[in-house]
Amino acid sequence: MYVNKKNFTFHNGVDIPSIGFGTWQIPNEEAYDAVTLALKNGYTLIDTAQAYHNEENVGKAIEDFDLPRESIFLTSKLPADIKGYDETLEAFNKTLTNLGMDYVDLYLIHAPWPWDEVGKDCTKENIQTWKAMEKLYTDGKIRAIGVSNFSKQDIQALIDACDIVPMANQIPFYIGRDQKELLDFCKKNSILVEAYSPLATGDILNSPEIMDMAKKYGVTTAQLSIRYCLEKDTLPLPKSTHESRIIENSQLDFTLSPEDVKKLDAMKDVRDK
Ligand code: A2P
Repeated sequence: MYVNKKNFTFHNGVDIPSIGFGTWQIPNEEAYDAVTLALKNGYTLIDTAQAYHNEENVGKAIEDFDLPRESIFLTSKLPADIKGYDETLEAFNKTLTNLGMDYVDLYLIHAPWPWDEVGKDCTKENIQTWKAMEKLYTDGKIRAIGVSNFSKQDIQALIDACDIVPMANQIPFYIGRDQKELLDFCKKNSILVEAYSPLATGDILNSPEIMDMAKKYGVTTAQLSIRYCLEKDTLPLPKSTHESRIIENSQLDFTLSPEDVKKLDAMKDVRDK
C-alpha cells in the first residue's frame, strides 16, 4: 500500500501524509463508517470541514480507532461565510467541540468569499481572519494553517499584510485542470497544493483517453488520476464510501513517464462542455 510511504513537509517543518481521505458530501450518518474504513486501510490523513456537517462523526471515528491521536493528521476548515478575527476564533472553538478534540493538525480558510457571493472582494476580512489563524497557530491549537480555493492575488494579499505565509492551498485539481499558474505560484512560495476532487467528482472516470493510458500501466482510471496529482507534487484527497475503492485509491505504487504526464497536462477539462 502506498499511503504511508512518503510525507510532504510544510514550510514550518510539520509533516503531512502524501494522500488523504476527503469527506465532502459524506453525510454525518455515513462519516463514522467511511472514516473508520479509511483508517483501517492505512489512510492517516482525514480531511473534513465545518461546512460538511460531519465533524462530529469524523471526530468520533478517530477517537474510537485504535491509533494514537498523534498518528492521525486531521484537517478542518473555517466556513467560507465566517470572516473576521473574533468570528474565526469562535468558529474554531466550535470545530474543536464538534470534533471532541483539543487541536487540529491543519486548519484552512475554506474560501476567499462566501459560497453565495463567489468572486466578492473580501481581502480586508480575509486579512483579519488570517490574523486569527496566526494566533491559533502560535497558541499551539493548530499545527499548520492554510487556505482553500484561494487565487494568487488572494494569497499575495495575506503574504503582504500578515506574518505567516500559508502552508497549504487546497484547490480543485485533476487531469485537465492542472492550475499551472497557481501551482507555480504556490511552489515558489513553498505552499503545498492539496488536490480536491482528483477524479473530477467521478466525471474523469469515463474519459476514453485516460482509460486507455490506465490500461497501459495496468491500473484503474481512478489510480492513474490520483497518481497524476502526486506526479505534479500535489497532495490528492480522493473520497469514496466503498471499501474496495478506498483501498484501490491508495494503491499508487507506480510512476508515470514524463511524456505521459505531459500528455495528461495537455488534456481538456472533462467538465468543460
Ligand atoms: P463512491 O463514494 O460511490 O465510491 P472526487 O474524489 O474527485 O470528489 O470523486 C468522488 C467520486 O468518485 C464519488 O462519487 C465516488 O463514489 C467516486 N469514486 C471514488 N473512487 C472511485 C474509484 N476508485 N472508482 C470509481 N469511482 C470512484
